[in-house]
Amino acid sequence: MCGIVGYIGEREAYPIVLEGLKRLEYRGYDSAGIALYDGQDIKLSKTKGKVMDLEARVDQEIETNGTVGIGHTRWATHGVPNDVNSHPHYSNSGDLVIIHNGIIENYESLKQELIKRGYIFKSDTDTEVLINLIEDVKKNENVKLGKAVQIALNQVIGAYAIAVFDKNKPNEIVVAKLGSPLAIGIGENEFFIASDATPFLEYTKKAIYLEDEEMAIVRRKKGVKIRKIKNDSLVAPYIQELQMNLEQIVKGGYEHFMLKEIYEQPHAIKDTYRGRLRAKQGIIKMSGIDDNIEKFLNANRIIVIACGTSWHAGLVAEYIFEDLARIPVEVEYASEFRYRNPIITEKDVVIAISQSGETADTLAAIKLAKSKGAFVFGVCNVVGSSIARETHAGAYTHAGPEIGVASTKAFTTQITVLTLIALKLAKEKGSISNSKFHLHLQELELIPSKVEQALKSDPHIKIVAETYKEAKNCLYLGRGFNFPVALEGALKLKEISYIHAEGYPAAEMKHGPIALIDEHMPVFVIATKKGHYEKVVSNIQEIKSRKGKIIGIVTEGDTDVKNLADHIIEVPETLEILTPLLTTIPLQLLSYHIAVLLDKNVDQPRNLAKSVTVE
Ligand code: F6R
Repeated sequence: MCGIVGYIGEREAYPIVLEGLKRLEYRGYDSAGIALYDGQDIKLSKTKGKVMDLEARVDQEIETNGTVGIGHTRWATHGVPNDVNSHPHYSNSGDLVIIHNGIIENYESLKQELIKRGYIFKSDTDTEVLINLIEDVKKNENVKLGKAVQIALNQVIGAYAIAVFDKNKPNEIVVAKLGSPLAIGIGENEFFIASDATPFLEYTKKAIYLEDEEMAIVRRKKGVKIRKIKNDSLVAPYIQELQMNLEQIVKGGYEHFMLKEIYEQPHAIKDTYRGRLRAKQGIIKMSGIDDNIEKFLNANRIIVIACGTSWHAGLVAEYIFEDLARIPVEVEYASEFRYRNPIITEKDVVIAISQSGETADTLAAIKLAKSKGAFVFGVCNVVGSSIARETHAGAYTHAGPEIGVASTKAFTTQITVLTLIALKLAKEKGSISNSKFHLHLQELELIPSKVEQALKSDPHIKIVAETYKEAKNCLYLGRGFNFPVALEGALKLKEISYIHAEGYPAAEMKHGPIALIDEHMPVFVIATKKGHYEKVVSNIQEIKSRKGKIIGIVTEGDTDVKNLADHIIEVPETLEILTPLLTTIPLQLLSYHIAVLLDKNVDQPRNLAKSVTVE
């Protein structure tokens, strides 16, 4: 996730901004940049790579005196990571400069308008569109910077935290927020701007956290004036006294990155469908699919290749694609696929799923599929990653950086992207009725709030975790769309708590694993109301009669499983194909709490790496 930093005051801005960028490195980034005002002009230095690389570049490129500056660490969303796409971005005149965290959804139409008016764009970013829109408004409406920012933002659809500086108004920085975080540190005659308080903690403990749809003009000496972006009304600043230490702020107040990322899922899922899903109009817009629609519609079959958690998302996709779009799907471990001389033809479409976009086995499998003439579509989280570059087309998940080694928000956002694709193909093929299509779109839009609801069971899940933390083995069962969730639940437990766990299709239990069941075996059963409910209840009875401990993941208000189970954890009701997006949540939390109770290194489990770039 991008990080933004700014300073305006009486000290030299450069060391404060640079140090601030280093503090924000934990957010994950691929490039960094800085803009400093030297008393006459805005000097800019930026680079793909690390803040360290930026530092070396600044030393050679620009003077570092001046008491106003803004800096940015970029995590690419529009345009690959490179020097040009890095922030800050100038406006065409060079008078204005911007840093931006977020996504401007309607940037393409705004860009076309600006091009018609003579604007030239150097980068592929949505951010350069925004700064030129601000410049255009400022000139045409003859207004000051703050007003221009406000008018421009009212034309923008998307999410942002921005800081804008005008060399003709060197005593102020204009900031605004919608969806992405922005904090203003209040010092004595000096102000700090940042994505969170870490960059300014040693200078001040007083901070204002902007709310969504608020903007602020931060004036040297004069202070901070906050307004609503929509109706221009003034907002009384609420200054908080910060109690947290550095470590707590980096993790957003959570004890671990994994927990933070679990809780980020409502937001991350929304970011995944932002700009793609228009439920009211009944539209799904995905350029990677739109541009290649014939390839998908004429495909003999879809082959999904992935590893680990991404492979589990692929298995969910198999159920969804076949159910909705009626296209045959095969799901392959990339590591097996690449070495087993698979039959691939030009009529096959391959979907490669990878959070990091760097997994060596998946990359090799893609190259093999391409060499046989298949069309390869990537579903990645990291923009500009090797897999994103190696595939013919793709769709990013936009989950933001995942730092905890155990994948959480990557999984749910991958499923979200794949569901969008399946629905789109189903609509194109006519394999879904209009009413069913609309219903699915509406329900998908409700998922973030339902995930939020599911997260509310956290205190109860902690109690369940306490009960089963000493288990030596655990079984996870699910059917249909939730069979892959059972696999994912078991994987999460294994990798962070080192407890042996197996995921199984519930009905397969009688073909072997049932022999394992005794009073020491916790069995986590996904038994939501929709999807083979009665059959799963019968499976639960089989476990019960062998004295197994049953923890049911059930639909809100369930009574049948409740009467049989030792514990239940409720999730909100949704359409059957969307249930994995909800049932996953308690299983992630459960693994997390068990690992914490066992005092394991949750964010960096032993023997595991976030990016598996070796075979
Ligand atoms: C599990 C986990 C791994 C990854 C796997 C693939 O929590 O993180 O199983 O899912 O290594 O990684 P990506 O998705 O980056 O290709």
